[in-house]
Amino acid sequence: PQNRLWWNEPIERVEIGWVVVAFLWGLFMFFFMIAWHFIGGQNLSTETYRITPAAYEQKVATFAEKYQVSEESGVPVVRPPVGEDVFILARLWEWWPLLELKKGQSYRIHLSSIDWQHGFSLQPVNINISVHPGYEQIITLTPTEAGDFGIACNEYCGIGHHMMTGRIRVVE
Ligand code: CUA
Repeated sequence: PQNRLWWNEPIERVEIGWVVVAFLWGLFMFFFMIAWHFIGGQNLSTETYRITPAAYEQKVATFAEKYQVSEESGVPVVRPPVGEDVFILARLWEWWPLLELKKGQSYRIHLSSIDWQHGFSLQPVNINISVHPGYEQIITLTPTEAGDFGIACNEYCGIGHHMMTGRIRVVE
């Protein structure tokens, strides 16, 4: 009939087919995302707490002062005893301090930023965690290999972003 409107027309079979395909694909991607959280190992689960940037800065400074063993270009190199919690601070544009950990031991690593959003990217193991001011996140790491592991910032944070690197040295 002449006055028939588009929303009254029957949906074509092929269109229903594609709607179903799109829906199933969305469902698949959703469950894949959940599964990837467990099998991918990239984005570790973190314990998260609220903390002010000033309080976190104080915590890291206390930690670094306590266990500092040397210094590299003005940045302390810190060797915490096994079992001790480890603190890393992100700020424009560094990961502070440099760390020395023991192979085969588990460490609780605390992360927070004191200014801006940064991305903690541990290479070459490809662990990625967004780091935000106001939130203290804790991951558990057990290094299984000795060597130098670089920390890169992978959230764009300004003019010095590409130079924002840190280091975890794993020793036998
Ligand atoms: Cu910090 Cu990019």
